[in-house]
Amino acid sequence: MGTESKSPNYPNHIGMIMDGNGRWANQRGLSRNKGHQQGVEACQRVVKACQELDVHYLTLYAFSAENWKRPESEVNALMELLELYLAKETKTLIQKEIRLRAIGRLDGLPAKLTKSIMEAVDATSRFGEWNLTLALNYSSRNEMVDASKAIANAVAQGDLSIEDIDWDTFAKCMYTKDLPDPDLIVRTSGETRLSNFLMMQSAYAELIFTETFWPDFTKAHLEECIKIYCARERRYGLTGEQVHKKKLANK
Ligand code: IPE
Ligand code: IPE
Ligand code: MG
Repeated sequence: MGTESKSPNYPNHIGMIMDGNGRWANQRGLSRNKGHQQGVEACQRVVKACQELDVHYLTLYAFSAENWKRPESEVNALMELLELYLAKETKTLIQKEIRLRAIGRLDGLPAKLTKSIMEAVDATSRFGEWNLTLALNYSSRNEMVDASKAIANAVAQGDLSIEDIDWDTFAKCMYTKDLPDPDLIVRTSGETRLSNFLMMQSAYAELIFTETFWPDFTKAHLEECIKIYCARERRYGLTGEQVHKKKLANK
């Protein structure tokens, strides 16, 4: 997990905060669960679109650690939908050679779901060019806590000295240790917050907030986000002049 992306002009890794399923359904007089069902279809569309648009890493925020606080019936419906999604999608992922990963406290999920995730992860582990990651029971703060415990343990065991701890030490202990940093985070539904998603990994990500509710999100919306991203300048602390010089030198 480095700071700069592989290609500065095109997003290699997009993180999606898929928000607005409930409001999409409310507007239509439907149940929130119906909104989540439509949200699953948007997931399938976007996974397909990423491959077509040459985006190699996609991370979908599917269930936050805070989402357990929702009504039990909604939580149960979401867990069932995730199971269904995996049952339907695994074949497609294999066919399209997309590697699946999951980040978050997976042991906190229903055992049956964890098992399905592990099976799908195993079934796609030989792939690597295309990567889909589901953030499940995920919280950036929990991730920092878990990484800190792992580091503290390594120090206590004498495997690591305190002086040697740097960001790289943390990066290697994060759930995302095998992923590049996200270049772009998109949040749908008009909310302009990160809600505990990839907080550290997004340190230098571009952020795009769109009004579209997640169930309405299409390939065309994704293309528009990529276009906006491509027009931005990522400076990583440099001046604009330095960035331009660097670009010229790399040509
Ligand atoms: C996102 O849609 C899906 C999850 C958080 C699981 P919401 O369910 O948050 O939809 P709104 O924000 O209530 O409209
Ligand atoms: C963030 O959406 C979590 C997911 C998209 C899975 P929420 O709807 O839970 O976020 P808040 O509560 O509005 O910040
Ligand atoms: Mg929401």
